[in-house]
Amino acid sequence: MSSIQRTFIILKPDAVQRGLTGEILARFERKGLKIIGMKFIKATEAAAKQHYQEHAAKPFFGSLVSFITSSPLVALVLEGDEAVTVARTLIGATDGRKAAPGTIRGDFGCSKSNNLVHGSDSPESAARELAIWFPDALIDWTPCAQTWVAGD
Ligand code: RTP
Ligand code: MG
Repeated sequence: MSSIQRTFIILKPDAVQRGLTGEILARFERKGLKIIGMKFIKATEAAAKQHYQEHAAKPFFGSLVSFITSSPLVALVLEGDEAVTVARTLIGATDGRKAAPGTIRGDFGCSKSNNLVHGSDSPESAARELAIWFPDALIDWTPCAQTWVAGD
């Protein structure tokens, strides 16, 4: 049985600075996740702090907020069957040095901090993050290849 979910993705400032946004976005598209929201923005400190609030007490919190607000990022909303897990699997483990080859972090980096992509870790986190980054309406549409890419 299908479980259509939404997930919130950030192509972090290092992905933009390194010119990898197209390659990374293509991986999500090719997998069959549907883009229903996308914007190129410079994150405010308030949004970055709210987004990563679960890490507020961690020693890396200050540098994480500086990194996310340092230069532009691409904020994305993807929809699909089990989109949260599907996207996290494509992204790979947090530390690029340990992330499996074939994953985004495994293929493009060797850092735990500058790890290119954020993906929501649960549908509840996705809903919380969407309220921060995408208060505006998302776009509902039907990709012509949908029934060919997804389904039991
Ligand atoms: P994300 O939230 O960005 O999708 O990453 P994640 O779930 O894989 O990892 P999480 O534990 O939520 O950490 C959030 C982000 O903080 C940075 N980080 N730095 N230097 C460090 O020890 C460290 N640990 C985490 C990374 O940018 C990580 O993605
Ligand atoms: Mg996380």
